This record gives sequence, structure tokens and C-alpha cells, in this order.
Amino acid sequence: MSKTPIRVGVIGTGIMGAGHARFLTEHVKDARVSALMDVDESRMGALAKELGDGVATFTTAEDFYAHPDIDAVIIASPDALHVPHLRLALAKGLPTLCEKPIATTVDDARTIVAEVEATEKKLGKSLVHLGFMRRFDPSYVKLKKMLESGEYGAPLVARISTRNVSSPGITTPGLYTNMAVHDFDIWRWLTGDNWDSVVTHYPKSNSLSPAGLKDPLIFVAQLKGGITMVADVVANDNYGYDVRTEVICEKGSVEMGIFGDIITRHKMVAGVAQGGPMVENWIPRFEDAYIEELKAWIATMTTGVNNPNLATAADGLAAAEACQMGVASLN
Ligand SMILES: NC(=O)c1ccc[n+]([C@@H]2O[C@H](COP(=O)([O-])OP(=O)(O)OC[C@H]3O[C@@H](n4cnc5c(N)ncnc54)[C@H](O)[C@@H]3O)[C@@H](O)[C@H]2O)c1
Repeated sequence: MSKTPIRVGVIGTGIMGAGHARFLTEHVKDARVSALMDVDESRMGALAKELGDGVATFTTAEDFYAHPDIDAVIIASPDALHVPHLRLALAKGLPTLCEKPIATTVDDARTIVAEVEATEKKLGKSLVHLGFMRRFDPSYVKLKKMLESGEYGAPLVARISTRNVSSPGITTPGLYTNMAVHDFDIWRWLTGDNWDSVVTHYPKSNSLSPAGLKDPLIFVAQLKGGITMVADVVANDNYGYDVRTEVICEKGSVEMGIFGDIITRHKMVAGVAQGGPMVENWIPRFEDAYIEELKAWIATMTTGVNNPNLATAADGLAAAEACQMGVASLN
């Protein structure tokens, strides 16, 4: 058990890093933000000012990790920096919540997960968790309970939409490694099953998206037990953040709407989806999930007890392996 408050350093102060820092400050007892690191000094400075006194700022990861007032780290830097930033955290033996993906290629994921597991074994404790926050989202938690209740029969097909308003700088493989990675993880968590295959299909590309970007993608993925996911991944939908799921089961359909509302079609009665103004990004839709994830992560340090819902480095690797199957099917 660690002494409180746990002093958390945050690497990357963009949308996610700032979100985590605010949620931690406002909603998580036993923790406070003690340090920030970003190469964008003005963005980092504005966040430090907002968080108040006692937040140190650094422009290099080396200086950040040398700061004595950091007990735990949140990595919210760009995807390609997660591996080097994790490696520095491991060298210090610091508990780390690393945003997804664990790495942008499966080879890098395998290498860093081996390093994580060797360090965890040496120290005799879990050190690294991944930011697969949907596991803490009340709607996904409810969906899991509904599927497990048996009332709707066995799940057969998942129809998924993962759509950003815009995704500056994203590449075609990034539609898997940056976006669909969440769907691969949450379906492992919902079912306890592992991915067997992923095949990409190409609809007409959006003429408003950057030249050369295959946007949107459709993919069909199958879990080993046969549940099949048919997903659209849209990097630039130009209309609002839109994440939805419908699970077709043997005796009914359970759908999660844009607002996390649950709609069922069962025993000849059809529910209706909630409508209303849409949001720009994931922060408002998944606010509760981020807060619960942070509380669970901090509790692992204050109680010394692991939380099985927190994604591990191995979960990050399993998601990376599914992404790789998708990327390998691109042409
Ligand atoms: N779990 C989720 O729901 C979720 C949602 C969105 C993004 N993410 C992940 O979070 C991470 C950050 O995404 P974002 O949307 O906040 O991006 P962002 O572009 O808003 O922020 C990234 C920040 O990292 C900073 N940065 C760049 N180089 C750096 C370096 N060398 N060291 C430290 N900081 C550096 C940038 O200046 C920027 O402030 C990504 O890996 C992304 O995939 C997770």
C-alpha cells in the first residue's frame, strides 16, 4: 500500500492528458497531479495554471522521470511514443496507466510487453495498465450484465460503429491501431474470448478525407467462439462523435446508442434510441468511464489489491494482435 495522496505525473497534456488530469483532480480522492510533461509548453502551462499550485512542468521525459515527487504516471502522449515513455517508467518501477494503444505495431507490442512482464515479475507487482476505459463505462457494464443474463440468448453478431468527427494525422493502419483497438479490447472483455480473424473491406472513400486515407473502413472480425463483428470505422465523419454497438442474440437484440442509452428489441417490442445534440469527442461520452477507471487504478495503489477490470499489458498485446490482423488485411 502506498502513502496518500498518490502523486501522479501526466505525460502529454492534449485532450486525453488534460482530461485525465482534470478528472483526477476533481473526482479521485487519495491522488493529485504533481507533474506534467509536454513538448508544447503553452498547452502544458495553461493546464498547470488551471490545476493550481504544486504542479511541476517538464519538456523532456528524462527530466520528468527524474522528478522526485512522482509516485505514478499517466502516459497520454501520441501513440508512437507510448513504448519509449513506458520504458522510462519501467526503469523507475512506477505504476503506469498508459493510453491505448500499447504500441503501434505488434512487434513493438510484443517487445514492450515482455519487458513489462519481466519487470512486474522482478518487483512482484502489477505496474502497467492500459487505458481501455470502456470496461468502466456504465453502459458497457450494463450490456455485459444483460448478455450474461441469458435473457436474450447467446450473442451471435456485433454491429459496431466507431466514428470520430475528425482524426488529424491519422493513417489507414491507424483506423485499426488508434480507433478499432477499443472494439477489439471491449469484445474480449465482454465475452472472455479471443480474436481469430479480421478482414478489411473498402467502401467508397470520403472525398473530404485526406488523399490516400482509406476512410471509412469496414471490417469483419471473428472471435474464436464464432461471434462475428461487423464494424465501420470512420476517421472523419464530419457530423459528431458516434460510437454505437448492436448485439444480435438468439432471442433478441441489445443496442447501445450514441449516448450510452440501451435499446432492446425483444418479445415483439422495439425500443427507441435517444436523440439530441452530439458531442465533438470522446471525453463527454466516456466521462464516467474515465473517472471510474482512474478511481480503480488509484485504488490498486492505495489498497494493494489488483482490479481485474483494469486492462493489463497482456490485454494491450491481445488488442495489438487483433489490430495487426486488420492491418495485414489492408491492401
Ligand atoms: N482511451 C481513450 O478513450 C482515448 C481517446 C483518445 C485518445 N487516446 C489516446 O491518448 C493519447 C493522446 O491522445 P490525445 O487525443 O490527447 O492527443 P492530443 O494530440 O490531443 O495530445 C497529445 C499531446 O502529446 C504532446 N506530445 C507530443 N510529443 C510529445 C512528447 N515527445 N512528449 C510528451 N508529450 C508530447 C502533444 O504536444 C499534445 O499535447 C493517444 O495515444 C491516443 O490514442 C485515448
